[in-house]
Amino acid sequence: MSEINTTAELAKQAQYTDLLKDVLLMRYNHRQPKAHIRTYGCQQNVADSEKIKGMLEEMGCALTENAEEADMIIFNTCAVREHAEDRVFGNVGELKALKRKKPSLLIGLCGCMMEQKHIADRIYKSFPYVGLVFGTHVIHKFPEMLYNAVTTGKRLVERGTDDGQIYEGIPMHRDGSFKGWLSIMYGCDNFCTYCIVPHVRGRERSRKPSVVLEEAKAMIGAGYKEITLLGQNVNSYGKGLDEKTSFPELLKSVSEIDGDFWIRFMTSHPKDASKELIDVIAESGKICNHIHLPFQSGSDGILKRMNRHYDKEKYMEIVNYAKSRIPDLSLTSDVIVGFPGETYEDFRKTLDLIREVEFTSLFTFIYSPRVGTPAAKMDDPIPYEEKSRWFGELLKVQEEIAAKRCAGMVGKTYRVLVEEQKKEDILCARTQNNIIVEVSGTPEMIGTFQNAEITEARNWILRGKLH
Ligand code: SAH
Ligand code: SF4
Ligand code: F3S
Repeated sequence: MSEINTTAELAKQAQYTDLLKDVLLMRYNHRQPKAHIRTYGCQQNVADSEKIKGMLEEMGCALTENAEEADMIIFNTCAVREHAEDRVFGNVGELKALKRKKPSLLIGLCGCMMEQKHIADRIYKSFPYVGLVFGTHVIHKFPEMLYNAVTTGKRLVERGTDDGQIYEGIPMHRDGSFKGWLSIMYGCDNFCTYCIVPHVRGRERSRKPSVVLEEAKAMIGAGYKEITLLGQNVNSYGKGLDEKTSFPELLKSVSEIDGDFWIRFMTSHPKDASKELIDVIAESGKICNHIHLPFQSGSDGILKRMNRHYDKEKYMEIVNYAKSRIPDLSLTSDVIVGFPGETYEDFRKTLDLIREVEFTSLFTFIYSPRVGTPAAKMDDPIPYEEKSRWFGELLKVQEEIAAKRCAGMVGKTYRVLVEEQKKEDILCARTQNNIIVEVSGTPEMIGTFQNAEITEARNWILRGKLH
């Protein structure tokens, strides 16, 4: 294994954190500095932002939702599609005026976009008021980088250094008090040909089961009612660990922790989804009867060129087994429309698959080329307008399926976790199978389990009555 001593490295960072307490107080005239973190992209980024927030709190900073009143603004960025990147460029451009009004404002950019050299270079050139740029691999060094940026006043860029390590023990400020994310692994080794994630998140590595279990227990002890286990492909959890283990085993151990709570997980790659996994879900009341199982395309030819390592038959086999074992199962998925070389015939196969599976909901994407990925070099003759038309067709098919599914829930009673207040006396609650139900109730119910009878389905929005 490697010779990096991660504990010693974090101890060094704790020293920088201590130094920063005074340095920041001085910089901001002895008042508590305020930091604003904006997170783009997926739950991995949300989890990383929770670490950055944790470190900032240790330095004595307060967190604010309001960028205008912040002394430090950090954008944690996503590179998965061009659209995601464009939003970041637009939003960073808007910070120029704020920086002009408040020269002491420190602006930092981190996350997946910064791990692409051409993007980090462009940011550096186009936005001279951005003081700190760092990639996903050096989050643990945030105190040191911030210290250097503040004390030298120089712009600092640090990226491109995946050391393959897991840094356990970084302070963390969880956003929620009853729903929380728990990373079980980092990185991705799958190299789907369209995807930038393995290039910006580095090699796959799993946290030890004992560490994950300890963290889960601590969360449940602190009152969490729902824990989502996170990884780009949770089904390959455990690869490379000394101890022999697997995701179904980990899931089972978490579900055996005492307490009344739900477990979710994402993302499951169909190539590694096993019957054992389905059995573990079927046999535990705590593991939600919802599986997010991205299929990406219904055409075997396209799946092959996406490097997904399964075909439609294999996908349907696991779906059908899951449906037969798990009552009231909800399946959701990611799908890409317009992969290079995709024909309307291929696209029709995607529609067929959607109709066959009857997903509760879909995350739908039009293909977007990513620099450095193999798909970006493939022939892509279909114009964007045509792909958009296909996309619209797909949405329509899915809307009908979702509406039918919701209508079928009317009259039944479900256990729900109340999540938030929508407006005055309307609360949003979620069923185990990941469907939102609007109910009347009081804010004290937020973060509690209740029973809701579904009284009405308006398209895919459900109304219910608490019992
Ligand atoms: N690890 C997860 C997904 C991570 S990215 C998995 O394997 O399913 C989230 C989703 O973004 C992907 O599932 C895919 O549908 C979409 N996506 C990724 N790269 C894309 C690209 N270049 N163009 C369009 N959609 C993309
Ligand atoms: Fe991207 Fe594929 Fe890895 Fe998911 S499994 S993050 S889609 S490369
Ligand atoms: Fe997630 Fe976007 Fe990075 S989807 S892993 S934040 S590129």
